[in-house]
Amino acid sequence: MRVGYYQFRPLFGKIRRNLDKIVKTLGDVSADLIVLPELAFTGYYFRDREEVKTLAEDPGHSSTIDSLAALCRHRNFHLIAGFAEKHRDKYFNSAVLIGPNGIEHIYRKLHLFNEEKNWFDDGDIYLQINPIQDAKIGIMVCFDWAFPEVTRVLALQGADIICHPSNLVLAYCQQAMLTRCLENKVYAITTNRFGVDKRPHGSLKFTGRSQIVAPGGTLIHRAQSQREELYIMEIDPALARDKSITALNEVLADRRPEYYSNLN
Ligand code: ACM
Repeated sequence: MRVGYYQFRPLFGKIRRNLDKIVKTLGDVSADLIVLPELAFTGYYFRDREEVKTLAEDPGHSSTIDSLAALCRHRNFHLIAGFAEKHRDKYFNSAVLIGPNGIEHIYRKLHLFNEEKNWFDDGDIYLQINPIQDAKIGIMVCFDWAFPEVTRVLALQGADIICHPSNLVLAYCQQAMLTRCLENKVYAITTNRFGVDKRPHGSLKFTGRSQIVAPGGTLIHRAQSQREELYIMEIDPALARDKSITALNEVLADRRPEYYSNLN
């Protein structure tokens, strides 16, 4: 299975320009699954919720999503893209899974980071996995990495590949994802953006270093911090179904949930 990421620098508020860049870059790529960053069309550093309202899109009535669906149909691949979602009177930091037949799933970020709590509503859709060919994929967005429960629940549901659109500003995530992959024996594709959102109310710099990690927790490939990169590689999703960590230990089967009574 050919999977990968496209690390680029969205320009804040320039939805059409950001979309055109994605469509142009991916227009002749051969792959099965490509993960784009969080908030790939709008940029990240909103002033407030009112500004989110001016840029968020209802995926059922979005020329942006329609263009990506046409690209997926044309190239016969799947895309996962972070976007600002409008749903009735709510606004979510979401990720959409699109295939040749259109939208297959929408995930709404469960763990909002810092000022996102002022801009977005809390995600309200249960974690689930989706099939792509013979693989099962799970989606989480950026700061969800800091909650090991997310990767664990997706792994327990059978995810082979964690798809992880991100706009990272702290330094920890890329290294932490090696552990997430080791403790769950899954692949992870973390797609980060780079560059700066320079706004009148302040600036945020994003850390790049998008990466693909293998089920043993080994880093297969990592992008540079401040450089655009489209990276596609062949993986075998079946490797994520071997959960053994020693001859006598398996990371999921050896859990003792009957003793985890404080989880809630
Ligand atoms: C983040 O969750 N965008 C840091």
